[in-house]
Amino acid sequence: MDSNNTIPGYSYGTTDVPHSPVSMDELKNLEAAVGFTEEDASWLRAAAGILVPQAEAMVDCWRQSIARQPDLLRSFLDAMGKPDENYKAAVKRRFVQWVSDVCLRSHDQEWLDYQEEIGLRHTPAKKNRTDGGHTSFFVPQRYLVGFTAVVITSARAFLTASKKPQGDIERMQDAWTRAVILNISLWCRPYSGPITW
Ligand code: HEM
Repeated sequence: MDSNNTIPGYSYGTTDVPHSPVSMDELKNLEAAVGFTEEDASWLRAAAGILVPQAEAMVDCWRQSIARQPDLLRSFLDAMGKPDENYKAAVKRRFVQWVSDVCLRSHDQEWLDYQEEIGLRHTPAKKNRTDGGHTSFFVPQRYLVGFTAVVITSARAFLTASKKPQGDIERMQDAWTRAVILNISLWCRPYSGPITW
């Protein structure tokens, strides 16, 4: 696992990250809407011991799912329709770090602000900027939301591999589910520009 300050473009906690338009009070309301509690935070810390060592394998699994679907893969292709490999590799390291962040970061102002940054990196405002990528200019929001199903359900196999008691696995899976939905809810924003590639 990378230590945070060695991941290029991972600007968590720095002044490069914009202030979230969501207030801490609004975050509490969103956590309540999702049903995310302190107990979930505690189960996520337990899940970290299982998921963080497997984070790269999890990201590989998600990447394989994206690679099978041309309309998803498009977000990683250059204008010639070839994968932008440098971009893919750079993004991957931060995606792996995200698994750890979901499990271990407390939901403070820095965390909230980085959710805004991740959301923007899927939009024309910031996509490609961090790594000098040459790919499509945004990830369609319906895919961002839709792919949540894959990121949530695929965690079970990684949790189960730990051979922990089934009850514990269920609690960790529930906590992961709520945390991922919470993350994605904060990344969503309306995009009203043209949809062209
Ligand atoms: C639940 C769904 C998703 C999750 C949890 C997720 C997570 C992430 C994370 C953690 C990053 C890196 C953020 C950083 O720079 O620190 C990222 C970037 C990226 N994601 Fe997603 N993502 C999701 C859906 C998708 C989908 C469906 C696509 C495209 C098919 C996609 C394409 C990308 C691309 C291209 C980047 C790089 C953006 C840039 O240029 O900086 N993501 N994603």
